[in-house]
Amino acid sequence: MTETRIEAWLDEDRAFAPSTEFSAQANAQPSIYEEAAKDPVAWWRQQANRLAWDVAPTTALEWDLPNATWFADGTLNASVSCVDVHVREGRGARVAFHWVADAEGESRTITYHDLHREVCRTANALLELGVKKGDRVAVYMPMIPEAIFAMLAIVRLGAIHSVVFGGFSAEALSSRILDSDCRFVVTADGAFRRGVASPLKPAVDEALKSCPDVTAVLVVQRTRGEVQWTPGRDYWWHDIVQRQSDVHQPESFPAETPLFIMYTSGTTAKPKGIFHTTAGYLTQAATTYHYVFDVKPESDVCWTAADIGWITGHSYIVYGPLVNGVTQIMYEGLPDSGGRDRWWKIISQYGATILYTAPTTIRTLMKWGHQIPEAFDLSSLRLLGTVGEPINPEAWMWYRQNIGGDRCPIVDTWWQTETGAILCSPLPGITATKPGAAMRALPGISVAVVDDAGHEVEHGQGGYLVVTAPWPSMTRGIWGDPARFFDTYWSRFPGKYFAGDGAKLDSDGDLWLLGRVDDVMNISGHRLSTTEVEHALVGHRAVAEAAVVGASDETTGQAIVAFVTLKLSAEDMNKDQAALVEELRSHVASVISPIAKPRQIILTPDLPKTRSGKIMRRLLRDVAENRSLGDVTTLTDPTVVNMIAGLMDTRASSDD
Ligand code: WT7
Repeated sequence: MTETRIEAWLDEDRAFAPSTEFSAQANAQPSIYEEAAKDPVAWWRQQANRLAWDVAPTTALEWDLPNATWFADGTLNASVSCVDVHVREGRGARVAFHWVADAEGESRTITYHDLHREVCRTANALLELGVKKGDRVAVYMPMIPEAIFAMLAIVRLGAIHSVVFGGFSAEALSSRILDSDCRFVVTADGAFRRGVASPLKPAVDEALKSCPDVTAVLVVQRTRGEVQWTPGRDYWWHDIVQRQSDVHQPESFPAETPLFIMYTSGTTAKPKGIFHTTAGYLTQAATTYHYVFDVKPESDVCWTAADIGWITGHSYIVYGPLVNGVTQIMYEGLPDSGGRDRWWKIISQYGATILYTAPTTIRTLMKWGHQIPEAFDLSSLRLLGTVGEPINPEAWMWYRQNIGGDRCPIVDTWWQTETGAILCSPLPGITATKPGAAMRALPGISVAVVDDAGHEVEHGQGGYLVVTAPWPSMTRGIWGDPARFFDTYWSRFPGKYFAGDGAKLDSDGDLWLLGRVDDVMNISGHRLSTTEVEHALVGHRAVAEAAVVGASDETTGQAIVAFVTLKLSAEDMNKDQAALVEELRSHVASVISPIAKPRQIILTPDLPKTRSGKIMRRLLRDVAENRSLGDVTTLTDPTVVNMIAGLMDTRASSDD
């Protein structure tokens, strides 16, 4: 945790009261906190009425730490709550997605009616390929509507999707397929990024060399690039989906039916398959979308600028918004596809009212200059959101002033892959906002900031964020590893969920998130573990040992800095080190993902270790951030650190 830097951000006194205009129209009323606090479980039971139940539940929470079930005796079909219900109730003509391609001028409009037809067809195609209830299906896709058709079709059949971000490598994809034993893959030939086609199918072919149990691969043709074809295993989407009937009778499943698995980095080299079940997850995704984003389905045009390969895309592009029946923008490209003004073009063209993005993107837009958004009419916007990492007040203020016209409330939403949906955030129109603060737990949620001993801290103090009661969209565990679920989240503070984040209560008792306190890094809002990157590095023939730290970075929040000792002799070490460093950086990118590419690799003859042989990451982080070195008395050889600090200046590699 880069506490010193973050402490300097905090400006607890700067607060924005909700405007009377917004409050008058807000979905939430001030009494909501009290109502929910009276009986949180009953309150959540009420919220569950947002779903289209076949058999309404008579139960709510059953809690046997760390195992929770919610609404367990109810039955429903997730895709019906997202799609069919809107068609059935006469909202079929409403636009579900304005899909905007990477290339300017290319777009598609998908109404709820269209969505229903496509989901039914896709479900029928998957049935034909042999997908059954409980099967795991990997989805490795660009940001195209078929990704959403696939996700909804999979859960419509009672199968479980495991969406793997399209930027992940073949190796990362195969390990995820194997871990949850996926038998099917949905993918595309490639993806467009800034007008350039980048292939996806070759990574699938490569991954499947080590996944012999995958029986079918469904491929969307997006880029028309050349593809290798394995007959009997590979099927074109346009061959098999298009000819299906658009009628599919959905089955009703128990509330706790697994819905999806989403892999995320923990503190070990192996990503964890976080899994979520149906009704609790959907209830909280929908409820938080309604209150935190204050959505008015008849008039809002909502844009969650995230990828469906992450939990944000699952909860706030697919499930939360669709249960609410809103109109969304789904964008395929990068913020500068076609030019650095692309986002503002999209917002003004479609009249976007709600924008949800990550601090790292805001900082990039900020670097490009306020003149760019200034040239556009952004007056349709009425609410802004941020997620993924702590937001520095400068970025928050820039967002408010330059994008939000000094009028839109900003919701800084804290949550995790494991929490499934937002737990902490201001409520627009109700809660004041402070630049950089998540403010408080949502109605129905209880969190606390505790010290090392687990005691709640006073106002003005820092500690660890814990969740003190189960919530509906809580993960039901780690796929295939129940013991790890308890150990990771429920053992540090007995009876409480330990999130892994540092936090602070200010003098008003408002909540500020300060970043991870474990070996999890946050690079542009993407979660990576130090060990995962170290593991990739030592997998290279020339590497003997590696230590990785997350160092603060102006744009990406944190950046990866790796300290590496080589297997080569001292003489060899002086040979063309720059080329070797580049090779190692590319190696990490190809083993994990370009996101994991270290910003810097420092080749060093030795690493600082304690007498018990543990690498002192804290010291390395100080070195990486150019801080003065603290206590080094427990080091076996204190001169190592100074030597490494010297190497930083001379051997730092350039940024990409
Ligand atoms: C970690 C979870 C939740 C979707 C995207 C990330 C950090 C998330 C905030 C925020 C400060 C935040 C935390 C958390 N984080 N939102 N508003 N303020 N930190 O999901 O990949 O599961 O990562 O992201 O450190 O533990 P994820």
